[in-house]
Amino acid sequence: MAGDLTASDALGSVPFFSGLDKKLLKTIVANGKEIQYKAGDTIVRQGEVGVGFFLILQGQVEVRSNGKVLATLSTGGFFGEMSLIDDQPRSANVVAVQPTKCFALTTWSFSSILSSHPEIAMPILKEVVKRLRTAQSAPTS
Ligand code: CMP
Repeated sequence: MAGDLTASDALGSVPFFSGLDKKLLKTIVANGKEIQYKAGDTIVRQGEVGVGFFLILQGQVEVRSNGKVLATLSTGGFFGEMSLIDDQPRSANVVAVQPTKCFALTTWSFSSILSSHPEIAMPILKEVVKRLRTAQSAPTS
């Protein structure tokens, strides 16, 4: 539709991907797909095998575990990286709290892009460290 952002524009406008060159952005776009979720949809389920990495193009999600909201992520945020990195089950539920559009990469695409373009790893690592610090400073009960 006229005026709509292409997936490439949308990804390029997300801080996480904005530093990447256009060619790499195109490769990423070609390897993933956009998925629309309704408010209330569970996108990632705790305990399941992880098969995707998600970047939020629009909307908002909550990361929930044991009845607690661990984090709220919105446009530009990502989730699903943990299971893909260590091959362990999903560590938490991720639920859309608004109509949410995600860009999803399969495990295979995520790993292959990461190994061919290791510069993507650093922003992911920085964000994961930030989340760890937030979790450490959160009250325990
Ligand atoms: P994964 O374990 O694959 O699936 C659940 C996702 O929720 C996880 O990857 C992270 O992307 C995200 N997640 C888990 N714990 C936190 C947290 N404390 N803060 C923010 N995001 C989290």
